[in-house]
Amino acid sequence: MRAIDALQEAQKIAFAPFIFQATVSLKELGIFDYIFENNQKGGVTISEISKALIISEYGIGVLLEMAESADIVEKDENERYELTKIGYFLNANSIVEANMNFTQDVCYKGLFHLTEAIQEEKPAGLKELGDWPTIYEGLSKLTPKEQKSWFDFDHCYSDGMFEEALATVFKKKPRLIYDIGGNTGKFSIACCKFNEDVNVHIFDLPGQLNKALENAKISNFQDRITGTEIDWLSDNPQIPAGADTIWMSQFLDCFSKNEILKILRIAVKAMNSDTELIIIETYTDRQEFSSSKLILEATSLYFTALANGNSKMYKASEFESLVNEAGLTLVEDKKLGDYHTMFTCKKK
Ligand SMILES: C[S@@+](CC[C@H](N)C(=O)[O-])C[C@H]1O[C@@H](n2cnc3c(N)ncnc32)[C@H](O)[C@@H]1O
Repeated sequence: MRAIDALQEAQKIAFAPFIFQATVSLKELGIFDYIFENNQKGGVTISEISKALIISEYGIGVLLEMAESADIVEKDENERYELTKIGYFLNANSIVEANMNFTQDVCYKGLFHLTEAIQEEKPAGLKELGDWPTIYEGLSKLTPKEQKSWFDFDHCYSDGMFEEALATVFKKKPRLIYDIGGNTGKFSIACCKFNEDVNVHIFDLPGQLNKALENAKISNFQDRITGTEIDWLSDNPQIPAGADTIWMSQFLDCFSKNEILKILRIAVKAMNSDTELIIIETYTDRQEFSSSKLILEATSLYFTALANGNSKMYKASEFESLVNEAGLTLVEDKKLGDYHTMFTCKKK
């Protein structure tokens, strides 16, 4: 890289929050949408946008100047703006949208405390959202906007693979599934829709469990979806024996390696030789696209600054060791969709 280009990149990082916030404003104010609608007719001027959206020319001007330097919009010799491909994705890609809303509504203020979080090994940024030891105690108490952005972020990665995962889960015809970290109950409800005989028992913190059971009731599965409150970080958490399948999707990454080992060992105690333990994760060493790697690295920093201060997105190789150490054998290692890997484990 030439020094002048490197300096330009360094300056972009120095002002990254300005570019990000300008993008959020351009989206929220409907300026991206308006420019996109007018792309066909060769773009729009600041004055036309100002009249159509009733926003000052000054305001639109400062936002679009920044967006132009960040290659989000481009203007022709007649000062008519169009979205670039980057601008198009920022405005219309559903995964970019979920990531941006998550960054803005959940993470932005908390990330300010990242250095402190690393030094203290605590989620020092969480105080920007509320006063809880980890974000999971606070999920059900976030504002509706924060909650929507958190759940959209979580679901936009897990929803796509549930359908594909169900076919594998039900090959063994389980009668009872434990959904560990069942969250909103989406997977448990999907199981009950997929198979009319199965029962699902959810284990989660009280706030999430109540919400999941409420959702199960709305879907008319209250007789088949039950639940128990659990805090895996408490002294002696236990789950009973009896499940054919123990399902942990995007759950173990909420914990440090020692905590994961503790959870897996407790699960092993509740298993017999037929029980399957299924772990679904988005491993950093199993990603095809460089943008997926970036998303996972950012997610790790969310864990550091806001969620719990000690977990991250892990490599598959790290989970292989943990599974083995906990007394499990990996019997199937399967790719699911674009991001996920499914480990099926049995007791050794
Ligand atoms: C990222 S969500 C996973 C949601 C869902 N399984 C999926 O695949 O989309 C993690 C879940 O783990 C739960 N969890 C986190 N820490 C916990 C703890 N200490 N005890 C019990 N559950 C916990 C959270 O409440 C949340 O529902």
